[in-house]
Amino acid sequence: MRRSGSILSGAAARRLPERVPDGSIRRAENQSRTGEAVADVKRVVVLVSGHGSNLQALLDAAAEPASGMAVVLVVADRPGAHGLERARRARVDTAVVRPADHPDRRSFDLALRDLVAAARPDVVCLAGFMRILGPEFVRAFPGRILNTHPSLLPAFRGAHAVREALAYGVKVTGCTVHLVDEEVDHGPVVFQEAVEVRPDDDRDALEERIHEVEHRLLPAAVRALGEGRVVVEGRTVRVLQEAPR
Ligand code: GRF
Repeated sequence: MRRSGSILSGAAARRLPERVPDGSIRRAENQSRTGEAVADVKRVVVLVSGHGSNLQALLDAAAEPASGMAVVLVVADRPGAHGLERARRARVDTAVVRPADHPDRRSFDLALRDLVAAARPDVVCLAGFMRILGPEFVRAFPGRILNTHPSLLPAFRGAHAVREALAYGVKVTGCTVHLVDEEVDHGPVVFQEAVEVRPDDDRDALEERIHEVEHRLLPAAVRALGEGRVVVEGRTVRVLQEAPR
């Protein structure tokens, strides 16, 4: 098996079967835009675990003319993540790093860190990535990792935010896009927007309305961070209209 985190040459990658070994990059075919070719385009690496609707929002935003950003790599922690398929369709390189292929959490973190670092990201975006990232990963990209969370943090941290908001009976929940620090769902808030909880809501209905908001806020935050318009003072974030000169 290929060493975790290794990167294949273009020619070798073209010979790859559908399933590639853990940590290897599957090069997208007929790449139209990788960020290499266009000056000043901000390079975005996206980490996913599942459906990837937020990834799709980022891919769509990046495909807009003059978006100024390109998703250069999508990494999943499991080969079945639908987000990988979305990336392939958008001709973006993909990779899978599975915790099960590593002896402990630290070595998983290091493999992921090295893979992501090799893509030289301006922004690392967690878009439904259901793993807690350790300090080795977080410290490698200081102030450059964004996460989207389906609640108004600090309420309902963790993996079941929508279910817990419904169970608690809150009338308002929402979405938070925040910078990632070494605590879970904790870093400085970049954008936050409320979503009303309706009396007849079930999890799917509420989640869908939260997603609509996330799909707008996450690309805006990625773009602002990439363009240097996110100013952090302690826990307070200001998003500038224009990058400081
Ligand atoms: C989003 O609601 C995000 O807030 C949470 O996981 C969900 C991922 O959805 N962290 P998708 O995979 O982007 O559709």
